[in-house]
Amino acid sequence: MHAFRPNGHELTCDGVGLAGIAASVGTPTYVYSAATLRERIETLHAGFGDYPHALHYALKANSNLAVVRVIRAAGGLVDANSGGEIEVALRAGYAPSDIVFTGVGKTPAEIDRAVTLGVKAINAESAGELERIAAAAGVHGRVASVALRVNPGIASESHPHISTGMDSHKFGVPIATARTVVREASARPELDFVGLHVHIGSQMLGLEPLRRAAAAVVALAQELRDDGVRVTHLDLGGGLGIPYEDETVPPAAAYAAALVDVVKPSGLTLIVEPGRAVVGPAGALLASVVDVKPRAGGTRFVVLDAGMSELLRPALYGAFHRIEAVAERNGTPVTCDVVGPICESSDVFGVGRSLPAPRVGAVVAILDAGAYGAAMASNYNRHALPAEVMVDAGAWRVVRRRQTLDEQLVCEE
Ligand code: LLP
Repeated sequence: MHAFRPNGHELTCDGVGLAGIAASVGTPTYVYSAATLRERIETLHAGFGDYPHALHYALKANSNLAVVRVIRAAGGLVDANSGGEIEVALRAGYAPSDIVFTGVGKTPAEIDRAVTLGVKAINAESAGELERIAAAAGVHGRVASVALRVNPGIASESHPHISTGMDSHKFGVPIATARTVVREASARPELDFVGLHVHIGSQMLGLEPLRRAAAAVVALAQELRDDGVRVTHLDLGGGLGIPYEDETVPPAAAYAAALVDVVKPSGLTLIVEPGRAVVGPAGALLASVVDVKPRAGGTRFVVLDAGMSELLRPALYGAFHRIEAVAERNGTPVTCDVVGPICESSDVFGVGRSLPAPRVGAVVAILDAGAYGAAMASNYNRHALPAEVMVDAGAWRVVRRRQTLDEQLVCEE
């Protein structure tokens, strides 16, 4: 069941009134449902059944410590995309063996840290990077567990900005060259070659591209075995979409079954790195109306105190997010363009939306904002990074307090 649903005249998160949270913490504020986070991890786990698998939640979607701790307690491991995310994972209680480290531009310091920690796998992006990992491992007297990210040349059929599996994209090595790259890497005593990695895109609504990508790495793993290379896992990345509007999205069980189907004959352990599918529906952004003014065409602009600085997805990808009134939900609906306060014409959350006559001071909730929401927030226009709240078992608590201006300026004085 969706976490954000009305109870009488008020929108709630798992039954906890959002108006009360907004009144107490102020806006803009992200609100997360711990129950949804748990439910998403458990449903995915159940989907893979008893096939050997590991869920490495993609921290980039939302690495708030409280969110990560709930995911950890529910049995999710992590995929870190930077040194910063590795540190967050450790801070949240993960062991290095729970972490896969991905990322298209790993710095020498990040490689050093991952090697000395001994993470489960460094997903290498190029032959050069494998070389640098081997050199770092040599310096520290370690053997680094590595996987190779391959680029299979498969279209994700998603938004171009979040598609990663074509040869025009910067990610991984072309699958046609992977066999040679792995053969060379696996001969290095400083490297333990453990697997193959592929991630072709995000917000995917169809399973076919995921199946094809899985089949491509299964075939490559077989070739590597023929070469005498021991492969232990296939990491198939993230990518499963969520319904933001009225899209039909494969259920977690169908997603998992499709991947298991393709990987099973290889007997290899299956890793996935879901981000959005875990945390997207678990979060909403609360914002207050700061102005209402007429717009040409007889409708109106509803200006919020949150904009692209708090939730970038609509401005960056033209992404759709439902917007709902938090209280006073029974007023006569009117048509409005819901916009942010930032000095950019792309700072628009929704055009031609229907909302019960919004007035200044009213609070709205922008839904399905748990993934790539707070994580992509910025200080643009000197906005403070927003507060974040976790709702759990009928109670709520602040899990990130609102940034102050002094905190913004401390690095500049
Ligand atoms: N693994 C890798 C290597 C990735 O690059 C990503 C996402 C994931 C896993 C998680 O993918 P997910 O399950 O969340 O689709 N900011 C964009 C999404 C960027 C995704 C980047 N990579 C958005 O707001 O839609």
